[in-house]
Amino acid sequence: MKNVVNNLGNFLNHFKRNSITLRLTLLYALSTFAALLASSVFLYHVLVNDLFLSDEKVVDNEIRLVKNVLVQHRGKIVMLDPQSNERKAYYLRVLNTKGEILLETPDMSLQFDRKDFASPPSNGENSHIKTVKSIDNRYYMTRSGSVIIPGHKPYELIIQMALDTNHHQTVKAKYQIRLAIIILVGIFLSGILGAFVAFKGMKPVRRVTDKLLSYKVTQLNERIDASNCPAELMTMVNAFNLLLAKIERSFNQLTQFSADIAHELRTPLHHLMVETDICLRKERNTKEYQETLQSSLEEYNKLGQLIDRLLFLARAENPETAINRAKISIEKEFQALHEFYQLACEEKNIQLRVVGSGFIEAEPILFRRAINNLLTNAIKHTKEYGKVNLIATEDENYYIIKVIDTGIGIDPSHLPHLFDRFYRVDYSRSKQAGGHGLGLAIVKSIMELHHGMVDVTSQPEIGTTFRLYFPKDFSINK
Ligand SMILES: Nc1ncnc2c1ncn2[C@@H]1O[C@H](COP(=O)(O)OP(=O)(O)OP(=O)(O)O)[C@@H](O)[C@H]1O
Ligand SMILES: [Mg+2]
Repeated sequence: MKNVVNNLGNFLNHFKRNSITLRLTLLYALSTFAALLASSVFLYHVLVNDLFLSDEKVVDNEIRLVKNVLVQHRGKIVMLDPQSNERKAYYLRVLNTKGEILLETPDMSLQFDRKDFASPPSNGENSHIKTVKSIDNRYYMTRSGSVIIPGHKPYELIIQMALDTNHHQTVKAKYQIRLAIIILVGIFLSGILGAFVAFKGMKPVRRVTDKLLSYKVTQLNERIDASNCPAELMTMVNAFNLLLAKIERSFNQLTQFSADIAHELRTPLHHLMVETDICLRKERNTKEYQETLQSSLEEYNKLGQLIDRLLFLARAENPETAINRAKISIEKEFQALHEFYQLACEEKNIQLRVVGSGFIEAEPILFRRAINNLLTNAIKHTKEYGKVNLIATEDENYYIIKVIDTGIGIDPSHLPHLFDRFYRVDYSRSKQAGGHGLGLAIVKSIMELHHGMVDVTSQPEIGTTFRLYFPKDFSINK
């Protein structure tokens, strides 16, 4: 039994995994077959009932007739042989309650057994119908009836009647064969029809699949036409188009990123090549060689830093990169930053103010790096006698670090791209100042690693405010 259940389970699993066309075909064939079987069986029963109902009426009429004759003649029976030819259409017998035969159609005892007739209820009613086979292999419908003979001493007689229904049995057998043929042909046709319907129904799926299979990386800008798709596929096609759009965007970003990296690496390399080339053109003294090497070292450092920052961004993007948060004293940290930037601010007469106390939970090195990037930008873009404020606050869910400057501000059109890699507002000026446009992209990555956020508000010529949101509950933005 367990094996049967297991096998059935395996079959169902296999069926579930199979193609939708096959499933639809089987389901269609099965339901058509069930409908066909139900209607055929119903019709068969109606026809057979009708067929034998007429026979039953003949039997009942005959029994009633004999009963009437018996009652009229007070049990003295003179009965005619129903048929004179060899095969009788029906047989009749009259018995008393002891089972003694008073009268019967000739040969009836030869053809039938006693148990071929049901015993009637002794209240003048008839028994149920029986279908029996006579000795000469013909089908008969038999019924018994009891009759009370009135008189001084009423007594009961039993009538047994057998009607030849062989012709109707033949018709019934024919019905059965035809029914079996109809059902078999029905299964076959419904299978073929089911396969055709499923094949036709799955055409849009095949069309979409063909289109997907023919997709090339160069066709990422193309979309599948969802307008003539059936409703069920429309959602899938739309979802796929959405996915394509995302892939296209990522792909373009990646292409752009590679181009940007190549571009950023080319400039310092070009400097190195030119310097080395000039140096090698003629014999130089030791001082000149030292100067060239010193300048090359600077370029190497810049290259090294650029590669470090790119590596940091690549690692930060890996979803498996985890960080270790620690309790950081805001006061201590801000004081250290203040000391570090004091000199740069004094050079430009910028007033640097730090406000904040308490603790924050973050990765210390990354926390410092994010604020460093923001402070460097703020000081870089603030004119002489401007102000830069570093403020720590908090709300219900976040520790908030604000870097506010009274600098040149940023035009609103740049704000959506500010955190993109290699994005610079004033490309040539920023590049001259040694900026790669990676500082804010790194800030964004650091905030993502903390499951936090960064945002910016800015007004040209008035100033810019960057806000870092470090979640208090590390899991809330996971
Ligand atoms: N506080 C600010 N005020 C005005 N503009 C800013 C400010 N911070 C950033 N920007 C603009 O945003 C751009 C991107 O800044 P980001 O820090 O990413 O790059 P960068 O400073 O040019 O180079 P890097 O930080 O890689 O050395 C900058 O080019 C700058 O024009
Ligand atoms: Mg920067």
